[in-house]
Amino acid sequence: MEICIRLEDVKRIYPMEAGDVYALNGVTLDIGVGEFVAIMGASGSGKTTLLNQIGCLDQPTSGNLYIEGKNTRELSDYELTNLRRDAIGFIFQKFNLIPLLTAFENVEYPLILKTGARDTTGRPADLLRLVGLDGGHMKHTPNQLSGGQQQRVAIARALANDPRIILCDEPTGNLDSKTGNQIMDLLTDLNRQGKTIVMVTHSDEIATYADRLITIRDGVIQ
Ligand SMILES: Nc1ncnc2c1ncn2[C@@H]1O[C@H](COP(=O)(O)OP(=O)(O)O)[C@@H](O)[C@H]1O
Ligand SMILES: [Mg+2]
Repeated sequence: MEICIRLEDVKRIYPMEAGDVYALNGVTLDIGVGEFVAIMGASGSGKTTLLNQIGCLDQPTSGNLYIEGKNTRELSDYELTNLRRDAIGFIFQKFNLIPLLTAFENVEYPLILKTGARDTTGRPADLLRLVGLDGGHMKHTPNQLSGGQQQRVAIARALANDPRIILCDEPTGNLDSKTGNQIMDLLTDLNRQGKTIVMVTHSDEIATYADRLITIRDGVIQ
């Protein structure tokens, strides 16, 4: 198995007045290129903290995180920003779209961050069509779209820079089960196309879409 993501004894400790919180307490984990992994665990067990570490949104207190063989500790801020932008796409439970931008503009936004200019390739529209939205919806702002449509926009946005890794935190948590299953079919397709997917979920049913299940409890993988 070619390793995509490697964690070596990763700890993330939040210093709090009442005492240190060991959100991750020594996580060692390998995820292979092209794997589809589900992370489960009770509320407060450290799932989001783990996903944020993998997404380089936060640094481990101790231990090492390797993305595609690179030790993230050894990267400059500039290199880390580029890695996060180019290798990793995020999908969240609450969609996290920019409310004042249209669906098209939300998907275009990461492309502008990368190139410094507005898109001239038609890629945002191509991606929105890929996730099942038509031309009319592209001009809508998030509040004019259903939850399922907003999550499709969020997936298109996550794909904008053609990441190799997709991280999802409860991607169907705000959707009814039929819409949730449609979103999972979309993620399954992306995985078949070779994307490595790491997904946090509360739901046993949603977890069955993954190839491997990881359970975390009190910051430790079981
Ligand atoms: N920014 C933070 N500051 C302090 N404690 C935090 C912070 N984020 C998470 N925690 C604590 O770390 C633990 C794990 O949280 P989290 O990763 O959000 O769990 P989950 O996603 O599984 O519900 C919890 O005890 C939580 O209260
Ligand atoms: Mg969480």
